[in-house]
Amino acid sequence: MSIERKDEHDHDAWMEERDLTALESMYLSVLIWFDKRLRIVDYLELLEDLYYKVNMQMPKSHTEQYNLDNKFWYWYPLYALGSFSTIAYVVAAISGALLGFYYAPAAAAADGTPSVAYESILFIMGDLNLGLFLRSLHRWSAQIMVAAVFLHMLRVYFTGAYKEPRELNWIIGIVLISLTMVFGYSGYLLPWSQLSFWAGQIGVEMSLSIPLIGEYVAQLLFGGFTPSQATLVRMYILHVFLLPFVVTTLIAIHIGIVWMQGIAEPH
Ligand code: HEM
Repeated sequence: MSIERKDEHDHDAWMEERDLTALESMYLSVLIWFDKRLRIVDYLELLEDLYYKVNMQMPKSHTEQYNLDNKFWYWYPLYALGSFSTIAYVVAAISGALLGFYYAPAAAAADGTPSVAYESILFIMGDLNLGLFLRSLHRWSAQIMVAAVFLHMLRVYFTGAYKEPRELNWIIGIVLISLTMVFGYSGYLLPWSQLSFWAGQIGVEMSLSIPLIGEYVAQLLFGGFTPSQATLVRMYILHVFLLPFVVTTLIAIHIGIVWMQGIAEPH
């Protein structure tokens, strides 16, 4: 329904002419109130146009092209692995944000505590109400995400869904699986336990093994040649600030492209 902008008197008359229910007239009054101040109807119409244009999927899916009634593969469970990765990501993001209230990204303290970060993990697990549950939720969702993303990639490969016109989404997928692993690695270092520390040392050694620029890479990623406070802060900022922004944006683009192109059927 299109509403032309009129003065208040016209609106009242317009509404009286039509036999509107209480709910309809309330809806219209609110809409008109906002429209007078924010031109909301014009913007809604723009969105509506955009929706119809964008919703014309390209290219036609196999079932549409050949007019097949049997769309059984839309329900094929392996086609849900991408959504499964997304759900695992959302659970990890929410539980991670809550863990952030109690975690401190600090290595040794002046009073001789060898790892403040590890102490905060012990606090979360031992003293915080539902802390053990929260940390387990975060770790399990993170690991399930890695597995789901990997299986999702296999299903895309074996059904040939990476072929034209979906190459761009395959490339975004490669970036996403790589960043998922960086998420996992940076998170693994955060407890600053023995496992974390030595995993950090392995990362340093791996960086150093890169020819010519190895030392610069180690310096940039780990802040030195042995894990230290500088390493912990780098991993922390990657894990809770940079990666969430980049990965959330890429997942949104990835799913947006699936929405535009439609799901590929097996070739
Ligand atoms: C954070 C990681 C990822 C998330 C959250 C994600 C999410 C999704 C979702 C929800 C779909 C819809 C179809 C389905 O569920 O199977 C999809 C499709 C697709 N994904 Fe991913 N994905 C991720 C990683 C990857 C990776 C690693 C690749 C490959 C390198 C990839 C390539 C594709 C392609 C080509 C499609 C289109 C498939 C088709 O049209 O049938 N994605 N993705």
